[in-house]
Amino acid sequence: MTAVCSAANVELVRSLGAHKVIDYTKEDFTGNGQTYDIIFDAVGKSSFSRCKSSLNQKGVYVTSVPAPDFLLGMLLTSKSKGKKAAFVAPGLRSSSDKAKDLVFLKELIEAGKIRSVIDRRYPLEEIVEAHIYVEKGHKKGNVVITV
Ligand SMILES: NC(=O)c1ccc[n+]([C@@H]2O[C@H](COP(=O)([O-])OP(=O)(O)OC[C@H]3O[C@@H](n4cnc5c(N)ncnc54)[C@H](OP(=O)(O)O)[C@@H]3O)[C@@H](O)[C@H]2O)c1
Repeated sequence: MTAVCSAANVELVRSLGAHKVIDYTKEDFTGNGQTYDIIFDAVGKSSFSRCKSSLNQKGVYVTSVPAPDFLLGMLLTSKSKGKKAAFVAPGLRSSSDKAKDLVFLKELIEAGKIRSVIDRRYPLEEIVEAHIYVEKGHKKGNVVITV
């Protein structure tokens, strides 16, 4: 598994299980000739068109932030047996599916297969400060509001 982040987060990302880490401030992961089965962009900084040549023959590009070119790519590749574009939005799943997802995630966490990373915790009264921090775009993992 290859992860993409900046130099400050290399050790954190390695500790989460990345075998290889690419510093996006120094190297464009789409330009090194390497290809992947899955490219998952969780922060909306790439695009399907940019990543297409870095996908294996049946590779899938997954994003949580769909740009206009992505929606077109998703439509055009939906029936394709080759490279595909896919959108993931857990928030849009039904309540019963989300409940199942949470149980599955709980099992993975208990089995030590995934680890969540909490950057900061804020009490509800400081939600404005929490938003200001998150909107800077450099949080590591996630920010929790304690109710
Ligand atoms: N579809 C859904 O269900 C869903 C759910 C939640 C969020 N979203 C969307 O997902 C996006 C990301 O939100 P977020 O709050 O999780 O994260 P975020 O705060 O926007 O992203 C912060 C992280 O992205 C890293 N980053 C910045 N540029 C990068 C690049 N070129 N390559 C790799 N990493 C890079 C930053 O690292 P550095 O500090 O090193 O720059 C930082 O660790 C938002 O647009 C949000 O709307 C979608």
